[in-house]
Amino acid sequence: MIAWYKMPMPSFRVETPGHSYPAIVERGAIGRIAEHLPARAGKVFVVTTADVWKHVGAALANALGTIAHETLELPGGEDQKRLAPVEALAEEMVRRGADRTTVVIAFGGGIVNDMGGFLAAIFMRGVPVIQVPTTLLAQVDAAVGGKTGVNLFSGKNLVGSFHPPLAVLTDPAVLDSLPDREYRAGLWEIVKAGIIREPALYAYLSEHRDDVLARKPDTVDHIIAESVRMKCEVVSTDEREGDLRRILNFGHTFGHALEAETAYSRFLHGEAVAWGMRAAVFLAERTGHLSAEDSVDILDLIERYGPIPPVNGIPAQNLVARLVHDKKTIQGKVHFVLPVRIGEVTVTPDVDPKLVDEAIRCALA
Ligand SMILES: NC(=O)c1ccc[n+]([C@@H]2O[C@H](COP(=O)([O-])OP(=O)(O)OC[C@H]3O[C@@H](n4cnc5c(N)ncnc54)[C@H](O)[C@@H]3O)[C@@H](O)[C@H]2O)c1
Ligand SMILES: [Zn+2]
Repeated sequence: MIAWYKMPMPSFRVETPGHSYPAIVERGAIGRIAEHLPARAGKVFVVTTADVWKHVGAALANALGTIAHETLELPGGEDQKRLAPVEALAEEMVRRGADRTTVVIAFGGGIVNDMGGFLAAIFMRGVPVIQVPTTLLAQVDAAVGGKTGVNLFSGKNLVGSFHPPLAVLTDPAVLDSLPDREYRAGLWEIVKAGIIREPALYAYLSEHRDDVLARKPDTVDHIIAESVRMKCEVVSTDEREGDLRRILNFGHTFGHALEAETAYSRFLHGEAVAWGMRAAVFLAERTGHLSAEDSVDILDLIERYGPIPPVNGIPAQNLVARLVHDKKTIQGKVHFVLPVRIGEVTVTPDVDPKLVDEAIRCALA
Protein backbone atom coordinates (compact mmCIF):
# COMPACT_ATOMS: atom_id res chain seq x y z
CA MET A 1 0.00 0.00 0.00
CA ILE A 2 1.32 3.41 -0.96
CA ALA A 3 1.30 5.99 1.81
CA TRP A 4 -0.96 8.94 1.10
CA TYR A 5 1.89 11.43 1.02
CA LYS A 6 3.49 9.55 -1.85
CA MET A 7 0.36 9.64 -3.91
CA PRO A 8 1.11 11.41 -7.16
CA MET A 9 -2.45 12.61 -7.58
CA PRO A 10 -5.06 14.09 -5.31
CA SER A 11 -7.63 12.15 -3.43
CA PHE A 12 -10.76 13.94 -2.27
CA ARG A 13 -13.51 12.89 0.07
CA VAL A 14 -17.23 13.23 0.29
CA GLU A 15 -17.98 13.64 4.01
CA THR A 16 -21.57 13.90 5.12
CA PRO A 17 -23.13 13.17 8.50
CA GLY A 18 -24.27 9.81 7.10
CA HIS A 19 -21.15 8.53 5.36
CA SER A 20 -17.80 9.29 3.90
CA TYR A 21 -15.97 7.98 0.86
CA PRO A 22 -12.88 8.77 -1.17
CA ALA A 23 -12.91 10.11 -4.71
CA ILE A 24 -9.49 9.37 -6.13
CA VAL A 25 -8.20 11.01 -9.28
CA GLU A 26 -5.06 9.29 -10.40
CA ARG A 27 -3.59 7.76 -13.54
CA GLY A 28 -3.55 4.05 -12.78
CA ALA A 29 -6.21 4.30 -10.04
CA ILE A 30 -8.03 1.31 -11.54
CA GLY A 31 -4.95 -0.81 -10.91
CA ARG A 32 -5.51 -0.37 -7.18
CA ILE A 33 -9.18 -1.29 -7.04
CA ALA A 34 -8.51 -4.28 -4.78
CA GLU A 35 -7.60 -1.88 -1.97
CA HIS A 36 -11.13 -0.55 -2.03
CA LEU A 37 -12.99 -3.85 -1.86
CA PRO A 38 -14.30 -4.69 1.61
CA ALA A 39 -12.30 -7.41 3.35
CA ARG A 40 -15.31 -9.71 3.54
CA ALA A 41 -16.67 -9.02 0.08
CA GLY A 42 -18.51 -11.90 -1.54
CA LYS A 43 -18.97 -12.15 -5.27
CA VAL A 44 -17.82 -9.12 -7.22
CA PHE A 45 -20.01 -8.13 -10.16
CA VAL A 46 -18.68 -5.70 -12.72
CA VAL A 47 -21.59 -3.89 -14.37
CA THR A 48 -20.51 -2.48 -17.72
CA THR A 49 -21.38 -2.42 -21.43
CA ALA A 50 -19.85 -4.41 -24.28
CA ASP A 51 -18.48 -1.16 -25.72
CA VAL A 52 -16.74 -0.04 -22.52
CA TRP A 53 -15.41 -3.53 -21.87
CA LYS A 54 -13.96 -3.71 -25.38
CA HIS A 55 -12.16 -0.37 -24.99
CA VAL A 56 -10.93 -0.39 -21.42
CA GLY A 57 -12.01 -3.66 -19.80
CA ALA A 58 -8.49 -5.05 -19.77
CA ALA A 59 -7.35 -2.46 -17.21
CA LEU A 60 -10.01 -3.54 -14.73
CA ALA A 61 -9.69 -7.26 -15.47
CA ASN A 62 -5.93 -7.05 -14.85
CA ALA A 63 -6.47 -5.10 -11.65
CA LEU A 64 -8.95 -7.63 -10.30
CA GLY A 65 -6.50 -10.39 -11.22
CA THR A 66 -7.25 -13.42 -9.09
CA ILE A 67 -10.16 -11.80 -7.25
CA ALA A 68 -13.21 -13.75 -8.37
CA HIS A 69 -15.46 -11.52 -10.43
CA GLU A 70 -18.09 -11.75 -13.11
CA THR A 71 -19.16 -9.17 -15.63
CA LEU A 72 -22.75 -8.18 -16.28
CA GLU A 73 -23.59 -6.25 -19.42
CA LEU A 74 -26.05 -3.41 -19.77
CA PRO A 75 -27.25 -2.49 -23.25
CA GLY A 76 -25.94 1.12 -23.07
CA GLY A 77 -27.60 4.20 -24.56
CA GLU A 78 -29.89 6.76 -22.97
CA ASP A 79 -32.99 5.07 -24.42
CA GLN A 80 -31.96 1.88 -22.59
CA LYS A 81 -31.49 3.65 -19.26
CA ARG A 82 -34.67 2.02 -18.00
CA LEU A 83 -35.92 -0.19 -15.20
CA ALA A 84 -36.17 -3.30 -17.37
CA PRO A 85 -32.41 -3.87 -17.91
CA VAL A 86 -31.81 -3.27 -14.19
CA GLU A 87 -34.37 -5.92 -13.31
CA ALA A 88 -32.82 -8.31 -15.82
CA LEU A 89 -29.38 -7.88 -14.24
CA ALA A 90 -30.82 -8.39 -10.76
CA GLU A 91 -32.31 -11.71 -11.91
CA GLU A 92 -28.98 -12.61 -13.47
CA MET A 93 -27.17 -11.84 -10.22
CA VAL A 94 -29.47 -14.17 -8.29
CA ARG A 95 -28.90 -16.91 -10.87
CA ARG A 96 -25.16 -16.44 -10.48
CA GLY A 97 -25.28 -16.71 -6.71
CA ALA A 98 -25.16 -13.09 -5.56
CA ASP A 99 -26.11 -12.42 -1.95
CA ARG A 100 -25.89 -9.61 0.59
CA THR A 101 -22.07 -9.76 0.59
CA THR A 102 -21.97 -9.02 -3.13
CA VAL A 103 -20.15 -5.89 -4.30
CA VAL A 104 -21.00 -4.12 -7.55
CA ILE A 105 -18.38 -2.26 -9.56
CA ALA A 106 -20.10 0.20 -11.94
CA PHE A 107 -17.61 0.49 -14.78
CA GLY A 108 -18.58 2.81 -17.61
CA GLY A 109 -19.98 6.18 -18.55
CA GLY A 110 -22.64 8.07 -16.64
CA ILE A 111 -25.34 5.72 -17.80
CA VAL A 112 -23.56 2.72 -16.31
CA ASN A 113 -22.71 4.66 -13.14
CA ASP A 114 -26.38 5.62 -12.71
CA MET A 115 -27.78 2.17 -13.57
CA GLY A 116 -25.11 0.08 -11.85
CA GLY A 117 -25.43 2.28 -8.78
CA PHE A 118 -29.20 1.89 -8.84
CA LEU A 119 -28.92 -1.89 -9.22
CA ALA A 120 -26.66 -1.94 -6.16
CA ALA A 121 -29.06 0.35 -4.29
CA ILE A 122 -32.03 -1.97 -4.70
CA PHE A 123 -30.47 -5.45 -4.93
CA MET A 124 -31.45 -7.19 -1.68
CA ARG A 125 -32.27 -3.70 -0.38
CA GLY A 126 -28.75 -2.51 -1.03
CA VAL A 127 -25.25 -3.84 -1.61
CA PRO A 128 -22.12 -1.68 -1.87
CA VAL A 129 -21.00 -0.15 -5.15
CA ILE A 130 -17.63 1.15 -6.28
CA GLN A 131 -17.90 3.72 -9.05
CA VAL A 132 -15.30 3.54 -11.80
CA PRO A 133 -16.25 6.20 -14.37
CA THR A 134 -14.82 5.85 -17.88
CA THR A 135 -16.11 8.96 -19.66
CA LEU A 136 -15.02 12.49 -18.89
CA LEU A 137 -18.60 13.45 -18.06
CA ALA A 138 -18.96 10.60 -15.61
CA GLN A 139 -15.58 11.31 -14.02
CA VAL A 140 -16.31 14.96 -13.31
CA ASP A 141 -19.98 14.62 -12.52
CA ALA A 142 -22.07 11.46 -12.58
CA ALA A 143 -19.89 9.15 -10.49
CA VAL A 144 -19.56 11.44 -7.47
CA GLY A 145 -22.53 12.27 -5.27
CA GLY A 146 -24.52 9.09 -4.80
CA LYS A 147 -27.37 9.83 -7.18
CA THR A 148 -28.45 6.73 -9.08
CA GLY A 149 -31.43 5.95 -11.24
CA VAL A 150 -33.11 5.36 -14.57
CA ASN A 151 -35.45 7.20 -16.93
CA LEU A 152 -39.19 6.87 -17.38
CA PHE A 153 -41.01 7.58 -20.62
CA SER A 154 -42.26 10.66 -18.77
CA GLY A 155 -38.79 12.02 -18.14
CA LYS A 156 -35.15 11.61 -17.27
CA ASN A 157 -33.97 10.12 -14.00
CA LEU A 158 -37.47 10.03 -12.55
CA VAL A 159 -36.90 6.73 -10.73
CA GLY A 160 -33.85 6.43 -8.55
CA SER A 161 -32.21 6.34 -5.19
CA PHE A 162 -29.42 7.92 -3.22
CA HIS A 163 -26.75 5.28 -2.89
CA PRO A 164 -23.35 6.68 -1.96
CA PRO A 165 -20.50 4.49 -3.25
CA LEU A 166 -17.72 2.89 -1.23
CA ALA A 167 -15.28 4.80 -3.38
CA VAL A 168 -14.99 6.57 -6.72
CA LEU A 169 -11.90 5.66 -8.72
CA THR A 170 -11.19 8.10 -11.50
CA ASP A 171 -8.43 7.07 -13.85
CA PRO A 172 -7.86 9.68 -16.56
CA ALA A 173 -5.89 7.11 -18.58
CA VAL A 174 -9.10 5.36 -19.63
CA LEU A 175 -10.15 8.47 -21.52
CA ASP A 176 -7.59 7.83 -24.27
CA SER A 177 -10.10 5.77 -26.23
CA LEU A 178 -12.98 8.17 -25.68
CA PRO A 179 -14.35 9.61 -28.95
CA ASP A 180 -13.74 13.32 -29.42
CA ARG A 181 -17.41 14.23 -29.33
CA GLU A 182 -17.84 12.51 -25.95
CA TYR A 183 -14.71 14.21 -24.63
CA ARG A 184 -15.98 17.65 -25.60
CA ALA A 185 -19.39 16.92 -24.10
CA GLY A 186 -17.64 16.23 -20.79
CA LEU A 187 -15.58 19.40 -21.07
CA TRP A 188 -18.72 21.48 -20.91
CA GLU A 189 -19.49 20.07 -17.46
CA ILE A 190 -16.01 21.27 -16.46
CA VAL A 191 -16.77 24.68 -17.93
CA LYS A 192 -19.93 24.55 -15.82
CA ALA A 193 -17.84 23.87 -12.71
CA GLY A 194 -15.76 26.94 -13.46
CA ILE A 195 -18.75 29.19 -14.02
CA ILE A 196 -20.66 28.18 -10.91
CA ARG A 197 -17.93 28.06 -8.29
CA GLU A 198 -14.34 27.95 -9.55
CA PRO A 199 -13.08 31.18 -11.12
CA ALA A 200 -9.49 29.82 -11.19
CA LEU A 201 -10.62 26.75 -13.13
CA TYR A 202 -12.58 29.02 -15.46
CA ALA A 203 -9.45 31.10 -16.11
CA TYR A 204 -7.40 27.94 -16.65
CA LEU A 205 -9.90 26.65 -19.22
CA SER A 206 -9.82 29.99 -20.93
CA GLU A 207 -6.01 30.12 -21.09
CA HIS A 208 -5.27 26.47 -21.87
CA ARG A 209 -7.94 25.64 -24.41
CA ASP A 210 -5.52 24.14 -26.93
CA ASP A 211 -3.86 21.87 -24.37
CA VAL A 212 -7.27 20.82 -23.09
CA LEU A 213 -8.51 19.96 -26.56
CA ALA A 214 -5.23 18.20 -27.38
CA ARG A 215 -5.77 16.14 -24.21
CA LYS A 216 -2.37 16.92 -22.74
CA PRO A 217 -2.21 14.54 -19.78
CA ASP A 218 -1.21 17.08 -17.10
CA THR A 219 -3.89 19.46 -18.29
CA VAL A 220 -6.58 16.80 -18.40
CA ASP A 221 -5.61 15.54 -14.94
CA HIS A 222 -5.74 19.07 -13.54
CA ILE A 223 -9.17 19.98 -14.82
CA ILE A 224 -10.64 16.63 -13.77
CA ALA A 225 -9.17 16.93 -10.28
CA GLU A 226 -10.49 20.48 -9.87
CA SER A 227 -13.97 19.45 -10.96
CA VAL A 228 -14.02 16.42 -8.68
CA ARG A 229 -12.82 18.54 -5.76
CA MET A 230 -15.60 21.03 -6.41
CA LYS A 231 -18.26 18.33 -6.63
CA CYS A 232 -16.99 16.65 -3.43
CA GLU A 233 -17.18 19.98 -1.59
CA VAL A 234 -20.68 20.72 -2.80
CA VAL A 235 -22.00 17.23 -2.08
CA SER A 236 -20.32 17.18 1.35
CA THR A 237 -22.06 20.41 2.27
CA ASP A 238 -25.40 19.50 0.77
CA GLU A 239 -25.97 15.91 -0.24
CA ARG A 240 -29.67 15.97 -0.99
CA GLU A 241 -30.16 18.97 -3.17
CA GLY A 242 -30.85 21.84 -0.87
CA ASP A 243 -29.69 25.20 -2.08
CA LEU A 244 -26.01 24.49 -2.61
CA ARG A 245 -26.28 21.26 -4.59
CA ARG A 246 -28.80 22.94 -6.82
CA ILE A 247 -26.06 25.12 -8.31
CA LEU A 248 -24.81 22.00 -10.12
CA ASN A 249 -27.96 22.20 -12.22
CA PHE A 250 -26.68 25.30 -13.99
CA GLY A 251 -27.58 24.86 -17.67
CA HIS A 252 -29.46 21.66 -16.90
CA THR A 253 -33.02 22.94 -16.67
CA PHE A 254 -32.83 24.28 -20.22
CA GLY A 255 -30.57 21.40 -21.30
CA HIS A 256 -32.98 18.72 -20.09
CA ALA A 257 -35.80 20.38 -22.01
CA LEU A 258 -33.67 20.26 -25.15
CA GLU A 259 -32.72 16.61 -24.59
CA ALA A 260 -36.33 15.59 -24.00
CA GLU A 261 -37.63 17.59 -26.97
CA THR A 262 -35.16 15.80 -29.25
CA ALA A 263 -35.87 12.37 -27.73
CA TYR A 264 -32.38 12.06 -26.20
CA SER A 265 -31.03 11.21 -29.63
CA ARG A 266 -29.77 14.42 -31.18
CA PHE A 267 -27.55 15.87 -28.44
CA LEU A 268 -25.19 14.34 -25.95
CA HIS A 269 -25.96 15.35 -22.38
CA GLY A 270 -22.96 17.70 -22.19
CA GLU A 271 -23.93 19.31 -25.51
CA ALA A 272 -27.45 19.95 -24.25
CA VAL A 273 -25.96 21.42 -21.07
CA ALA A 274 -23.75 23.72 -23.16
CA TRP A 275 -26.82 25.01 -24.97
CA GLY A 276 -28.64 25.25 -21.64
CA MET A 277 -25.82 27.34 -20.18
CA ARG A 278 -26.17 29.72 -23.10
CA ALA A 279 -29.88 30.09 -22.42
CA ALA A 280 -29.22 30.60 -18.69
CA VAL A 281 -26.63 33.28 -19.44
CA PHE A 282 -29.10 35.11 -21.70
CA LEU A 283 -31.68 34.87 -18.94
CA ALA A 284 -29.25 36.07 -16.28
CA GLU A 285 -28.40 39.11 -18.38
CA ARG A 286 -32.06 39.92 -19.06
CA THR A 287 -33.01 39.62 -15.40
CA GLY A 288 -30.18 41.96 -14.43
CA HIS A 289 -28.18 39.32 -12.56
CA LEU A 290 -25.19 39.28 -14.91
CA SER A 291 -23.24 42.09 -16.53
CA ALA A 292 -23.05 42.27 -20.31
CA GLU A 293 -19.27 41.92 -20.06
CA ASP A 294 -19.35 38.65 -18.08
CA SER A 295 -22.14 37.38 -20.28
CA VAL A 296 -20.01 37.85 -23.42
CA ASP A 297 -17.04 36.23 -21.68
CA ILE A 298 -18.99 33.13 -20.65
CA LEU A 299 -20.75 32.72 -23.99
CA ASP A 300 -17.38 32.97 -25.67
CA LEU A 301 -15.79 30.28 -23.48
CA ILE A 302 -18.71 27.91 -24.07
CA GLU A 303 -18.32 28.48 -27.80
CA ARG A 304 -14.55 27.97 -27.76
CA TYR A 305 -15.12 24.44 -26.48
CA GLY A 306 -17.71 23.91 -29.20
CA PRO A 307 -19.25 23.95 -31.60
CA ILE A 308 -22.56 22.98 -30.05
CA PRO A 309 -24.43 20.91 -32.67
CA PRO A 310 -27.02 22.94 -34.60
CA VAL A 311 -30.34 23.55 -32.84
CA ASN A 312 -32.34 24.41 -35.96
CA GLY A 313 -35.96 23.32 -36.27
CA ILE A 314 -36.64 23.11 -32.54
CA PRO A 315 -39.76 25.12 -31.59
CA ALA A 316 -39.10 27.50 -28.70
CA GLN A 317 -42.62 27.07 -27.32
CA ASN A 318 -42.09 23.31 -26.95
CA LEU A 319 -38.99 23.92 -24.83
CA VAL A 320 -40.87 26.44 -22.69
CA ALA A 321 -43.63 23.87 -22.12
CA ARG A 322 -41.09 21.22 -21.17
CA LEU A 323 -39.40 23.43 -18.57
CA VAL A 324 -42.51 23.16 -16.45
CA HIS A 325 -42.13 19.38 -16.33
CA ASP A 326 -38.53 19.45 -15.18
CA LYS A 327 -37.96 17.22 -12.15
CA LYS A 328 -36.34 20.13 -10.36
CA THR A 329 -39.65 21.99 -10.37
CA ILE A 330 -40.68 22.66 -6.80
CA GLN A 331 -44.38 23.28 -6.18
CA GLY A 332 -44.83 24.21 -9.79
CA LYS A 333 -41.98 26.71 -9.83
CA VAL A 334 -38.91 26.28 -11.98
CA HIS A 335 -35.79 27.19 -10.02
CA PHE A 336 -33.30 28.85 -12.34
CA VAL A 337 -29.58 28.78 -11.64
CA LEU A 338 -28.26 32.08 -12.94
CA PRO A 339 -24.70 33.35 -12.95
CA VAL A 340 -24.12 36.65 -11.18
CA ARG A 341 -20.43 36.75 -12.05
CA ILE A 342 -17.78 34.30 -13.23
CA GLY A 343 -17.50 31.77 -10.40
CA GLU A 344 -20.79 32.56 -8.68
CA VAL A 345 -24.42 31.73 -9.33
CA THR A 346 -27.73 32.36 -7.64
CA VAL A 347 -30.83 30.18 -7.56
CA THR A 348 -34.13 31.92 -8.13
CA PRO A 349 -37.71 30.79 -8.75
CA ASP A 350 -38.97 34.27 -9.47
CA VAL A 351 -38.38 34.89 -13.13
CA ASP A 352 -40.78 36.56 -15.52
CA PRO A 353 -41.95 33.83 -17.97
CA LYS A 354 -41.65 36.35 -20.80
CA LEU A 355 -37.91 36.67 -20.17
CA VAL A 356 -37.53 32.88 -20.07
CA ASP A 357 -39.22 32.70 -23.43
CA GLU A 358 -36.91 35.38 -24.81
CA ALA A 359 -33.80 33.68 -23.45
CA ILE A 360 -34.78 30.41 -25.13
CA ARG A 361 -35.44 32.12 -28.45
CA CYS A 362 -32.13 33.90 -28.20
CA ALA A 363 -30.25 30.67 -27.46
CA LEU A 364 -31.96 28.97 -30.40
CA ALA A 365 -31.14 31.81 -32.78
N1 LIG B 1 -25.89 10.80 -11.16
C1 LIG B 1 -25.50 12.00 -11.48
O1 LIG B 1 -25.25 12.84 -10.61
C2 LIG B 1 -25.32 12.34 -12.92
C3 LIG B 1 -24.66 13.52 -13.26
C4 LIG B 1 -24.45 13.80 -14.61
C5 LIG B 1 -24.90 12.93 -15.58
N2 LIG B 1 -25.55 11.78 -15.22
C6 LIG B 1 -26.03 10.85 -16.25
O2 LIG B 1 -24.93 10.41 -17.04
C7 LIG B 1 -25.44 9.99 -18.30
C8 LIG B 1 -24.50 10.43 -19.40
O3 LIG B 1 -23.24 9.86 -19.19
P1 LIG B 1 -22.13 9.80 -20.33
O4 LIG B 1 -22.08 11.08 -21.03
O5 LIG B 1 -20.92 9.28 -19.70
O6 LIG B 1 -22.77 8.80 -21.41
P2 LIG B 1 -22.61 7.22 -21.63
O7 LIG B 1 -22.60 6.50 -20.35
O8 LIG B 1 -23.63 6.85 -22.63
O9 LIG B 1 -21.19 7.06 -22.33
C9 LIG B 1 -20.98 7.67 -23.59
C10 LIG B 1 -20.40 6.72 -24.63
O10 LIG B 1 -19.02 6.53 -24.38
C11 LIG B 1 -18.68 5.14 -24.44
N3 LIG B 1 -17.51 4.97 -23.56
C12 LIG B 1 -17.50 5.00 -22.21
N4 LIG B 1 -16.24 4.96 -21.76
C13 LIG B 1 -15.43 4.88 -22.84
C14 LIG B 1 -14.03 4.82 -23.01
N5 LIG B 1 -13.21 4.90 -21.96
N6 LIG B 1 -13.53 4.73 -24.26
C15 LIG B 1 -14.38 4.71 -25.34
N7 LIG B 1 -15.72 4.79 -25.24
C16 LIG B 1 -16.24 4.87 -24.00
C17 LIG B 1 -19.94 4.47 -24.00
O11 LIG B 1 -19.99 3.13 -24.46
C18 LIG B 1 -21.01 5.33 -24.66
O12 LIG B 1 -21.20 4.95 -25.98
C19 LIG B 1 -26.82 10.57 -18.42
O13 LIG B 1 -27.76 9.53 -18.37
C20 LIG B 1 -26.94 11.48 -17.23
O14 LIG B 1 -28.26 11.55 -16.72
C21 LIG B 1 -25.75 11.49 -13.92
ZN1 LIG C 1 -24.89 17.09 -16.26
